[in-house]
Amino acid sequence: MISQIHIFLLFQAFIQVIANTDQTQQTTAAIGVDYLNGQGTFTSTNLALWQVDSPSPDVQFNSVDVNGVYSLQIVKSKGAPLTFLTHHLSYKFTENINPAHLMFNFYSTNVNTEDTNLRLLNSNLNKTVVLFRCGNAGFVRVNDNQMIDFYNSTIEEKQDPTVPSWTRCDIFLDWNSQSLRVYLNQTFKAEVSFYFNDVPNIDTIRVYNLKPSTMGYFQNIMVCASPSCDGFLSSLLIKPVWSCLLIITLLLIF
Ligand SMILES: *[C@@H]1O[C@H](CO)[C@@H](O)[C@H](O)[C@H]1NC(C)=O
Ligand SMILES: *[C@@H]1O[C@H](CO)[C@@H](O)[C@H](O)[C@H]1NC(C)=O
Ligand SMILES: *[C@@H]1O[C@H](CO)[C@@H](O)[C@H](O)[C@H]1NC(C)=O
Repeated sequence: MISQIHIFLLFQAFIQVIANTDQTQQTTAAIGVDYLNGQGTFTSTNLALWQVDSPSPDVQFNSVDVNGVYSLQIVKSKGAPLTFLTHHLSYKFTENINPAHLMFNFYSTNVNTEDTNLRLLNSNLNKTVVLFRCGNAGFVRVNDNQMIDFYNSTIEEKQDPTVPSWTRCDIFLDWNSQSLRVYLNQTFKAEVSFYFNDVPNIDTIRVYNLKPSTMGYFQNIMVCASPSCDGFLSSLLIKPVWSCLLIITLLLIF
């Protein structure tokens, strides 16, 4: 017998299972505390609250509008040094923290050249927990582990880097096991170790380009307390529940 409740459940479950979150879109409702207090949205006012290490005309950090969204543009000129030790944009948290979720959108403009880098670190210990490095399609590494198929399989698919192509990155930190779970465009990619395995907490987030003559972009960086910045983690858990419900209602009906 098909009752109205069955039809309602079937409809709900069907909608939930086929619902596909826009891969680059993110909800703004923060569920866990954002330790950046929204300052990872790069309006010029927010950008001014970050610190430029070793300021130099060769490295520019700009607040720009990319398709209507405030973005951080990092431009390293030809004369800039090839270094990861200086010329960063940093934000020091007001306290030492153990975040559960780091999320951001990135867009790299150089086909094979490392230009879009982000670190979470303990600046007193000089130890990094998350080291994100990217140079467009062939190259996305977290703590030295390649996250997508490397050059051979992706080289044909490389997009025109002048056309903005944003990828959402979610990194979940497990401080007990000192490991990370990495998602690109909300698809699980890998579980990897912290860069250093003996770091009690972090106090700084840092973004930069490694190579001279490059340009990289970030949007909507959030560093959040448990459970997650915008409910993405719970949406991952809820989907299987709705899938089960769909199957159960189908079995009940037929
Ligand atoms: C910090 O650590 C890096 C390696 O992770 C090293 O290259 C650098 O020299 C260290 N800086 C200081 C001030 O000790
Ligand atoms: C990728 O392609 C290069 C050049 O054709 C080849 O030398 C290399 O072995 C390939 N690597 C893999 C992992 O297939
Ligand atoms: C993520 O999705 C966007 C939009 O569909 C796409 O342009 C981008 O290449 C994707 N990133 C990765 C690493 O697949």
